Amino acid sequence: MNCVDLLRQKRPLVIAHRGYSARYPENTLAAFAAALEIEADAIELDITLTADRQLVVIHDETLDRTTNGSGLVRNHTLSELRQLDAGSWFDSRFSGERIPTLIEVLDLVQNRILLNVEIKPEAYESEHPADAIEQQLLCLLREKNLEHSVIISSFHHDLLQDMQSQFVQIARAALYDPIMGPLDPNSICETLGTVAFNPHHESLTPNQVTSLHESGHFVFPYTVNSPQRMQTLLEWGVDGLFTDDPLQLKQVLKNNS
Ligand code: G3P
Ligand code: MG
Repeated sequence: MNCVDLLRQKRPLVIAHRGYSARYPENTLAAFAAALEIEADAIELDITLTADRQLVVIHDETLDRTTNGSGLVRNHTLSELRQLDAGSWFDSRFSGERIPTLIEVLDLVQNRILLNVEIKPEAYESEHPADAIEQQLLCLLREKNLEHSVIISSFHHDLLQDMQSQFVQIARAALYDPIMGPLDPNSICETLGTVAFNPHHESLTPNQVTSLHESGHFVFPYTVNSPQRMQTLLEWGVDGLFTDDPLQLKQVLKNNS
């Protein structure tokens, strides 16, 4: 079954944003294991490159907020990053957590759940080296036979466009933040060949949901943590929601059923 079939199978999807990040330190193995445990439908994570060009899972461009290190992630080698504590900032109970490599997360999750791998814009290289982040990601997904259970997203639309021109068959989604300026969701998806439009939830309108559905695209707004807002977006017919609290979204869905 390919990813689009998977997406169609069960909607709306409960997407654990950075893992179960309301209760566990974001983008750590603990947060991903917890999302599996509570049976979220999908896990979102963020990837970038280290100084020695390894793929690691972390949201910010710098280490300061979510680790005991500081400075830019890309200025550190993997072995330097692995010495950092990526859990204590959240709670001292998680002091053993490290910045995971993408390989570790893929090995943990395997094909048990849909994965949304977001490529951070700062990792984009317009020169397209052979070991560019997207090339390494594609190799890994092929090697692990996970091409059909992953959706790749990015705010960097050139990156998504490049992947399309390389005939990459893995499903992709276009992320949108209003700071990118006004853009037509359907045109974005058509131009980039993405299966989904993933907007900041405050920028989305019910008409956009209808129109994206008419053109055969999925809509996955991020990041929705209030039950009232979840309810509103579900009533608009979105195909899933990114949330830090997947258990809460499951409860909202249960109350509606
Ligand atoms: O992919 C949805 C969401 O993760 C996009 O924003 O900043 O949380 O990576 P951000
Ligand atoms: Mg993200």
